[in-house]
Amino acid sequence: MEQTKALLAVLQHRSPWRRPVWFMRQAGRYLDEYRRTRAQAGSFLDLCYNPDLATEVTLQPLRRFDLDAAILFADILLLPQAMGVDLSFQAGEGPVLSPVRTEADVNRLRREEAAADLTPVYETVRNLRAALPAHVTLIGFCGAPWTVATYMVEGGSSPERLRARLAAMRAEPWFDALMDRLIEASAAYLAEQVKAGAEVVQIFDTWAGDLGDGLREKYVIRPVREIIRRLREKGAEVPVIGFARGIGAAQLQFARETGVAAVGCEAGMPVSYMRDVLTPEVVVQGNLDPLAVIAGGDVLREGVRRLLTLPKERHIFNLGHGFRPETPVEHVQEMVRLIRSEDDAG
Ligand code: CP3
Repeated sequence: MEQTKALLAVLQHRSPWRRPVWFMRQAGRYLDEYRRTRAQAGSFLDLCYNPDLATEVTLQPLRRFDLDAAILFADILLLPQAMGVDLSFQAGEGPVLSPVRTEADVNRLRREEAAADLTPVYETVRNLRAALPAHVTLIGFCGAPWTVATYMVEGGSSPERLRARLAAMRAEPWFDALMDRLIEASAAYLAEQVKAGAEVVQIFDTWAGDLGDGLREKYVIRPVREIIRRLREKGAEVPVIGFARGIGAAQLQFARETGVAAVGCEAGMPVSYMRDVLTPEVVVQGNLDPLAVIAGGDVLREGVRRLLTLPKERHIFNLGHGFRPETPVEHVQEMVRLIRSEDDAG
């Protein structure tokens, strides 16, 4: 049965029966049915904590498109909330968190034990494992410590994340302590998702590109390596996809030093670099520009064809970042049809 899961096959270095395809933010506001279910739930957080509805929205994109993976519907900010941070999502403004900026703020945060509170998420994972067809792989996830810390320090989204970047650059002791708590809690959280049935996990480091040499090792590479080490210690053997967005030529170092099975590549990475430099060493995931899916037409077709030049036993077709709400569903449909037909032809 496992033989039929193309995503797992690629991550485990077996030949896939076809090129695995899934998309970051494949469930979300670009789908009418998502907006209806979210309205039914009341709010985004109510949706995340309702296992029946979270299961439903996870499955919605799979009913429309021929995909190889489902990604658990949740958010990277549920974990800091369980650690004790106040969290809300304001319409049009994104997340708002009670800021963590001092040693006292950090000392109040829960560690590993926070993961035990996220039982609705694990119930969603169990529901999904029971509901998914045999060829679909279930992906669990968490945010990487650096990216989650930026939201905690800034108190929400921030265009430049200056407070967090300065705290890292100054090696503020409270900031290093925050990273350690996030490493512990994230490993426990992922281990619970795996126990509940997640077959692969992805670590989202959306803001990894903020950090240069020296800081990257300390705040991106080491935390991801440490989470994977702890996962293995807890008996979770699943492949890990690392999405260290924006680190460019450091993807190779990231792959070598963390133990990830695949690297998620941002849209700015040349496909020739993915093919010639990365795929000989590591499986690559990505990296179509989400805006190409909005634009459609030739730019979308050419983008898809370029990615199909990657060897299908070393590539997971995805975007370079998540779908945006204004994405036309017909363009997604067309993209998946194109991937399937051109891949078969080749
Ligand atoms: O389909 C999937 O990809 C699975 C679910 C998922 C969501 N968020 C749902 C979501 C995943 C894997 C995430 C990860 C996530 N969350 C990241 C890392 C990846 C990335 O996109 O960079 C980050 C940084 C967050 C934090 C977050 N969540 C922000 C900044 C926002 C507000 C911005 C926005 O897009 O609205 C969210 C909200 C969020 N998370 C939505 C969804 C579907 C939109 C909420 C809504 O319905 O209004």
